[in-house]
Amino acid sequence: MPFFVGITGASGIKLGVRLVETLVPIDKVHLCVSSNARSVAAQETVELTFPQEVALWPPEAIHAPVGSGSYRLKGSVIIPCSMGTMGRIAMGISSNLIERAADVALKEGWPLILVPRETPFNTIHLENMAALSRAGGVILPPILTYYHRPHCIKDMEDFILGKILDRLRVEHTLFRRWKGDTSGQ
Ligand SMILES: Cc1cc2nc3c(=O)[nH]c(=O)nc-3n(C[C@H](O)[C@H](O)[C@H](O)COP(=O)(O)O)c2cc1C
Repeated sequence: MPFFVGITGASGIKLGVRLVETLVPIDKVHLCVSSNARSVAAQETVELTFPQEVALWPPEAIHAPVGSGSYRLKGSVIIPCSMGTMGRIAMGISSNLIERAADVALKEGWPLILVPRETPFNTIHLENMAALSRAGGVILPPILTYYHRPHCIKDMEDFILGKILDRLRVEHTLFRRWKGDTSGQ
């Protein structure tokens, strides 16, 4: 089943680009990039080029298949998710295709994974995230990780991408799983 990826104007555009590249060999990817994401990508010197199999929709394409719950998806991911988009989804304001696709995921009950990027969070951000979590969304911030011994930023990105694939129930080898001490003592 296809996936939907929304890339919005928060820092970390590269994460969205890499998720699309990771999902393309698995199944069809529908993608929407907000206009503010394009400005942030320019600041972060990230090229917004995608494999040709990707269905790239403009934000105003409310007629896209992913705008309707009758088009089934394996999951939808907003990565990175700006606090603006987070707030609009939390309030049910489907003002563009990304917000509408998120709204559809919540009403239909397939995974909606939101990758928020802001620091620090204010109370409004936290309350919007809590509301979305209660509504069935998964709040999956790109938090730094150390115990898998990353050597570079790509290793840390791989960990976050792997956590997203876990929630989408897609097998992967993006990071080594923690096995702990198997001696039982
Ligand atoms: C360089 C740059 C970095 C930004 N980083 C963030 C961020 O990390 N998180 C955030 O919530 N907004 C960030 N913003 C602000 C958003 O781009 C802004 O709120 C915008 O309205 C979001 O639009 P969108 O959600 O429709 O993409 C950033 C803006 C710029 C120009």
